[in-house]
Amino acid sequence: MTVTPYKCVSPVTSSLVKRNASRPKVVLAYSGGLDTSVAIPWLAETKGAEVISVTVDVGQPVDLEKVRAKARASGATKAYVADARREFAEEFIVPALRANALYEGVYPLSTALARPLIGRHMVAVARKEGAGFVAHGCTGKGNDQVRFDLSTTGLAPELRVIAPAREWEMTREDEIAYARAHRIPVEATTASPYSTDENLWGRSVECGVLEDPSIEPPEEVYGWTCAPADAPSKPEYVTIAFDRGIPVSVNGRRAPLHELIAGLNRTAGAHGVGRIDHLESRVVGIKSREVYECPAAVVLIAAHQALEALVLPRDLLDFKRTVEQRYAQLIYDGLWFTPLRAALDAFVEVTQERVVGEVTVKLFKGSAKIAGRRSPVALYQPALATYSGGDEYRRQMAEGFIYVWGLPARTWAAVGASAPVPTVATPDPSG
Ligand code: ARG
Repeated sequence: MTVTPYKCVSPVTSSLVKRNASRPKVVLAYSGGLDTSVAIPWLAETKGAEVISVTVDVGQPVDLEKVRAKARASGATKAYVADARREFAEEFIVPALRANALYEGVYPLSTALARPLIGRHMVAVARKEGAGFVAHGCTGKGNDQVRFDLSTTGLAPELRVIAPAREWEMTREDEIAYARAHRIPVEATTASPYSTDENLWGRSVECGVLEDPSIEPPEEVYGWTCAPADAPSKPEYVTIAFDRGIPVSVNGRRAPLHELIAGLNRTAGAHGVGRIDHLESRVVGIKSREVYECPAAVVLIAAHQALEALVLPRDLLDFKRTVEQRYAQLIYDGLWFTPLRAALDAFVEVTQERVVGEVTVKLFKGSAKIAGRRSPVALYQPALATYSGGDEYRRQMAEGFIYVWGLPARTWAAVGASAPVPTVATPDPSG
């Protein structure tokens, strides 16, 4: 196999069209928002490209047929739409949940996880259409450009990536003017000071007043969760059943995972659960402040961790935490399509064989607390744990165990006591 050396996509101010050649095809990941809508005529005008859009449904609350129509109205020659909710849940959320993936300990990686999936669809359409280029609407300041670019590299190194928003020097106002000049409808939501991203695993909000990290996020930034103070004054319990680390039912109702997640977002969100205010460290070196709403992710990760605590031994739990931290970081860093992820997946997969059972979570005024857990393979054994009758633990064995376990410490302490550790003599400054 020959490896093509990485060529920097020239800040493509020049057209991609060679004289007398047909228009190069560019497959654009299209959300229907301002940036990607402006990108369609911009790619056609600046690069002489034929733009084919692809919109991937990862559970964001948009009317996909409207998005498709908008792509066509903006100049896309073809507009693909893919319902990838099940795929997102089963192939991306499941591995992240089994790894309890939380970036910097708090962020369930909702936006980050959807990027490689969207990237995979972008690449699939590019192959189908015989396109040599893919494009996305990310700016040069964020993590998402890294994720799209690296997903493309990892799946189809022959494709070149164009990121219009990394190249054009338009302000938001310029973009709105450009859109109007090209007869692209500019929606009222564009006037919002916030930038948001939504999918099944959560909602991300940044910009506006959130750029001052010393200020508490105003209520208006939240879209999925009720203010904890206004949440119902009666707690609600949800029982989640897991099979090999995968949620299979909520309160006894079995459903495809993406439906269980959507339902939990509503139930837990109504109790104000899942608000996260994260001062985060971006891949590109910038610190940023992002607010997340991830009700289902917060509940499911807490429940999954509680079940693992019941069924996995101490050393495995301990080692897995190291893997989890690395796993979360690689998702954040855009390294989904890499051998490291495949190798860590193999480890996590083995750890999940006995993660079977049920966990009950109490939702109350912004908190999700574990109320109970049970498993047919619980390592918690009443006959060992009890302080009452029926104790089978051989407590007389403890003394010998502690003697051997503490031998290094005992020896160390004894040697130091009989021969005090010599201190290095300090020279007398007076000579
Ligand atoms: N900072 C988050 C991440 O890197 C979310 C980025 C998208 N957020 C947004 N508000 N548009 O995963």
